[in-house]
Amino acid sequence: MDGNGRWAQQRGLPRTMGHRKGVEAVRGAVRAAGEAGIAYLTLFAFSSENWTRPETEVNDLMGLLKAFIRRDLAELHAENVRIRVIGSRENLRSDILPLLLEAEETTRQNSGLTLVIAFNYGARDEIARAAKKLAAMVAEGRLSTDEIDAVALDRQLDTRGIPDPDLVIRTSGEERLSNFLLWQAAYAELLFVPEFWPDFTREIFFAALETYARRDRRFGGVKSAAVSG
Ligand code: IPE
Ligand code: MG
Repeated sequence: MDGNGRWAQQRGLPRTMGHRKGVEAVRGAVRAAGEAGIAYLTLFAFSSENWTRPETEVNDLMGLLKAFIRRDLAELHAENVRIRVIGSRENLRSDILPLLLEAEETTRQNSGLTLVIAFNYGARDEIARAAKKLAAMVAEGRLSTDEIDAVALDRQLDTRGIPDPDLVIRTSGEERLSNFLLWQAAYAELLFVPEFWPDFTREIFFAALETYARRDRRFGGVKSAAVSG
């Protein structure tokens, strides 16, 4: 979700107004994903690098996250949405962590769309934490070095149990991953759309899904037509 600040700037509004509109776009995207029958939607809400933004903006973003969970949790729960949070939980503010845990706990049994919120998330940090866990298991004699492979590391990631993303969409025209799901997106289709996040409508979402459907995914193999023909 990129471009909240520029959306506001374009209108001569403070950046925080862009973030506010961004929350509305989140609601629309969650609804559209549910309608499209998507099983997992991951939103990059706040990166481990976003803490370097001015304190007022960080506070605005924290306030919006808190308001979103307080205001929308009941409705998401009623819509059978399951919430998972990925990212480091170390040193999280005491007014944030309990809310995230509550959102996960309340919706644990839900079987509809899984909404994965990447908060205080950075892929390199996630992979490093997973490596640390494997090292600790080896040190404790619960794992041998030979058993460390891609599957073993994958199991220690924050996304354990969540399938790899098929499609990664970034808004605002920037064409980079910026430390998002670096491991999991190894074979993801990438789509960069010019619209700023607050302008990300269901129409743009569905058009993105159509673009995805036309992509030829080979996972390092050969074209399916070449195999059968
Ligand atoms: C994305 O919009 C929102 C978050 C990081 C939460 P930005 O705040 O990055 O907006 P730009 O990139 O400055 O336009
Ligand atoms: Mg940005």
